[in-house]
Amino acid sequence: AGTTEVDVSALEPGERVTVAWRERPVFIERRTPQTLALARADDDDPNLIDPEIDADRVKDEEWLVVIGVCTHLGCVPLGQSAGDNRGRFGGWYCPCHGSVYDVSGRVRRGPAPTNLEIPPYQFTAPLRIRIG
Ligand code: FES
Repeated sequence: AGTTEVDVSALEPGERVTVAWRERPVFIERRTPQTLALARADDDDPNLIDPEIDADRVKDEEWLVVIGVCTHLGCVPLGQSAGDNRGRFGGWYCPCHGSVYDVSGRVRRGPAPTNLEIPPYQFTAPLRIRIG
């Protein structure tokens, strides 16, 4: 079927998991208050390549759900932590041509033209996500 059900109850704040949906990776992150603050702090950043506020990219502020496919040419970005040199935005880094995504999955350095896509999903229980 075209849906993927994910039980996210085992994820601690700050942890990420990658699941498959329609043969594509989907990144799910249980965000810490610090991560959420970081995402919101950049909502008005004039340097956003594809301006979007974090609240419009999530259904529940604690959970980020994005398709893990670089919007440049489709590589799978690697997770970065806030301390990483190339990942000072704390999100993801694409090894193919160097695009950088922040903790909201917004592109912060090209060549990727747009933010990581949000798949259709819903919470079927507080800690259960159905993608698709
Ligand atoms: Fe990710 Fe080109 S495919 S930067």
